[in-house]
Amino acid sequence: MEKLMITGGRPLQGTVSISGAKNSAIALIPAAILAESEVILDNLPLLSDVAVYSEILEELGATVAWEGSQMRIDPSSIKSIPMPNGPVKKLRASYYMMGAMLGRFKEAIIGLPGGCNFEPRPIDQHIKGFEALGATVTNEHGAIHLHAKELRGTKIYLDVSSVGATINIMLAAARAKGATIIENAAKEPEIIDVATLLNSMGAIIKGAGTETIRIEGVSELHGCRHSIIPDRIQAGTYMIAAAATRGNVLIDNVIPKHMEALTAKMQEMGIGIEEYDESIRVLGSSSYEHVDVKALVYPGFATDLQSPMTSLLTQAQGVSVLSDFVYSNRFKHVPELVRMGAKIRVEGRSAIIEGGKLNAAKVKAADLRAGAALVIAGLTVSEGVTEVSGVEYIDRGYDHLVSNLRLLGADVWRQTE
Ligand code: EPU
Repeated sequence: MEKLMITGGRPLQGTVSISGAKNSAIALIPAAILAESEVILDNLPLLSDVAVYSEILEELGATVAWEGSQMRIDPSSIKSIPMPNGPVKKLRASYYMMGAMLGRFKEAIIGLPGGCNFEPRPIDQHIKGFEALGATVTNEHGAIHLHAKELRGTKIYLDVSSVGATINIMLAAARAKGATIIENAAKEPEIIDVATLLNSMGAIIKGAGTETIRIEGVSELHGCRHSIIPDRIQAGTYMIAAAATRGNVLIDNVIPKHMEALTAKMQEMGIGIEEYDESIRVLGSSSYEHVDVKALVYPGFATDLQSPMTSLLTQAQGVSVLSDFVYSNRFKHVPELVRMGAKIRVEGRSAIIEGGKLNAAKVKAADLRAGAALVIAGLTVSEGVTEVSGVEYIDRGYDHLVSNLRLLGADVWRQTE
């Protein structure tokens, strides 16, 4: 087990380049099994979750060649193999194997997902979608069994606009008979990315990025080459770290439009933001205004940036209120920040944050974004060494974190526990 050691207090300076989006990658890799020939994914992030997904595909008999930021997936010889255990259990997003296997084989057995459990995360909307398409879905001893004689297009209204359910239904419906319409679909950029890949594979999907997506089923999909969109959550984390350390950082390889909710909030705090075509510069200063933040579905403020934002708000003057309307209880970072001297209390689905100085402490990341929040907090503390354990969570979503931060001038290193 490793931990991150941080001596903070240095303003981050320089340029950081953002890799491809984790939450796209882990949907695009299973999507590839719907094709009959090779799919090439470029701009792939180097993350443990991506490695687990390549293991899952190899277990099915696909040939996976992963070199640098490119993965070549040849799914032509994959077989329908039950996966009640094994790597599927390591990853919450292995739920995409349900939609992809159902689309390709009309059957699947997938162990219930693991991953970041900051609160119970149901998959009832995924299952409702599969059933509407004509599948029988049962939970047997902790594995989801799916089976359909044929998948038929239909209209599905999602009770909550779930990213996972929207993508999973697109995967299953891409090769169904007839048209599927998803209403109240999620609008996150990762959904557009998956639809773009599927369309390049020969699917007919319209409306991705709006609340109504129409999928015209086709009988066969083929290989293609696709470049993954930049990771907006990684980008946002570096933007927040730059501001928290009162630094000056150019965040490169981003789509500024994806960052709008964050940039607007940062500007409201008095943080300097310069936007370019594919990059954003963050110019920190000595004093920030308090703000209220509401995490919502896209294009609202991303829930995945809620924990990092908590750390930034400890650096603002006065009292900020940060509420999460996507997950009601995603506050595992709060007790750890309090150990570092933060004045935060949680009331219902809100954290009430009073600005003030933080101190070095030994803290533990309980999930991926909580870990990012603690790293940012540590970067603001100049006296003493902040130790962040639970690095394995952080490695699920941030590639080259230590080397990137060091390039920006931070004093951060990994140490074996
Ligand atoms: N929900 C249901 N039923 C469902 C599905 C979701 O009630 O069947 C609820 C959830 O409990 C939650 C809300 O709907 O309150 C939204 O959940 P969603 O399904 O959109 O989340 P997800 O697909 O499981 C993805 C990301 C998360 C990110 C959320 C929200 C992946 C693999 N994960 O999760 O990313 O927080 O969307 O944007 O894409 C992360 O990267 O740290 C992370 C957790």
